[in-house]
Amino acid sequence: MYPIIQVDQIAKYTSQDVIIQGWIYNRTDKGKLVFLLVRDGYGFVQCVAFKDDLSEVLFDQIMHIPQESAVIITGLVREDKRAPGIPGGYEIGIKAMKIIQTADEDYPMSLKEHGVDFALDNRHLWIRMPSQWAILRVRATVIAAMREWLDNNGFINMDTPILTPAACEGTTTLFETQYFDEGTAYLAQSGQLYNEANIFAFNKVYCFGPTFRAEKSKTRRHLTEFWMLEPEMAFCDLDQMMEIEEQLISYIVRRVLRDRQAELKALGRDTAKLEIIAPPFPRISYDDAIQMIEQIYKETKDPEQKELLKIEWGMDFGSPHETELTARFDRPVFIYGYPTVVKAFYMEPWPDRPEVCKSVDLLAPEGYGEIIGGSERISDHKLLIERLKQHGLPPEAFKWYLELRRYGSVPHSGFGIGVERTVSWLCGIEHIREAIPFPRTIKRVYP
Ligand code: 4AD
Ligand code: MG
Repeated sequence: MYPIIQVDQIAKYTSQDVIIQGWIYNRTDKGKLVFLLVRDGYGFVQCVAFKDDLSEVLFDQIMHIPQESAVIITGLVREDKRAPGIPGGYEIGIKAMKIIQTADEDYPMSLKEHGVDFALDNRHLWIRMPSQWAILRVRATVIAAMREWLDNNGFINMDTPILTPAACEGTTTLFETQYFDEGTAYLAQSGQLYNEANIFAFNKVYCFGPTFRAEKSKTRRHLTEFWMLEPEMAFCDLDQMMEIEEQLISYIVRRVLRDRQAELKALGRDTAKLEIIAPPFPRISYDDAIQMIEQIYKETKDPEQKELLKIEWGMDFGSPHETELTARFDRPVFIYGYPTVVKAFYMEPWPDRPEVCKSVDLLAPEGYGEIIGGSERISDHKLLIERLKQHGLPPEAFKWYLELRRYGSVPHSGFGIGVERTVSWLCGIEHIREAIPFPRTIKRVYP
């Protein structure tokens, strides 16, 4: 019996007979030769059928097999630099093939260009295509790397609830649901508030899970359901947190470069742009960032674009600002010290400058923009009550959260990384909806 291999491991089997289990992705006939591009979930490999080597029945089957048919192929692995595939560079000379299912001939995602809406309606099939498959493989590695780094650096995973009684990131983006006789519950916008309880028991924690925002934004950066990793640290100020962020991000990048070369290549990603990602990342104050954007505004000629870039001190950055700003950087940049009015209620004020808070966003380069949002948290009980009131949030709903400031309160900080935004940047893709298996946007909860 020959070994059943994974296509991403094929290099180990040069000149050996092997078995692969997969699906027909493409077929090209060249007279006495038929080339099948077969995908097995681990990669794509060219399998070659040579008429003179095979029985007439088998060769005929191979010549007519429809796209997406499920097969088990036995054959000899040969190194051939020209062979297409992911990783590519190897082909299998077919000796035997068993058809598990002959796919219907009307496969909707045939190998031609499809419009985005059509592709999204067929997301259950689209994920089989090389680009989508590659992005989602990178995603899995990003998630593994995030957890690995945290687990190896003193953090413990604490899962936080999805059904919650109150807002964390503002009341305008809550998804509501009726919760038995208890009234309204909301889908979590963030696990942060529970993380803040957890640090007083465990010191450094993180949660990782789905996050929900009834966000009316139709940008290429917004989903209504996305996955967020949120570390939270006791005895940690803003500067110490930035060091953690840049270490974590650099580790993720290195790990993706190590394990997902074939996928990045298939996506056409310029990996030289990722190779240079290493600490320290530039740290720019909000004040300076505003000046930079004002300068970009002055230099912009196109009136429509100019309108989008209008800004003055006190405003939050929109997608166009972040795009223009980060297009001018080749590595991620921290923007810290945002105006208090544009940020969440829990952020510690800047010493002697109450109009500014100890917040920091990390913006990815090449125009990608915010991938991390975080801050030092208010640790003073009285100030926190004041802030809740200013934000129109009922202190009663935050009773337990306020208590954290009465029993062993310490300076503490935390941040949230959006998985899909990080994956979009690393893969160099246009739109965040391709960075999650089944995207939810304001226009779509299907499939
Ligand atoms: O900046 P945000 O809203 O911060 C928080 O939720 C904090 N409570 C996190 C914390 O301090 N523990 O969100 C954090 C990150 C953003 O930087 C972005 O990457 C991602 O979550 N994100 C979204 N991703 C996709 N679609 C959306 N609608 C997103 N909103 C935020
Ligand atoms: Mg943010």
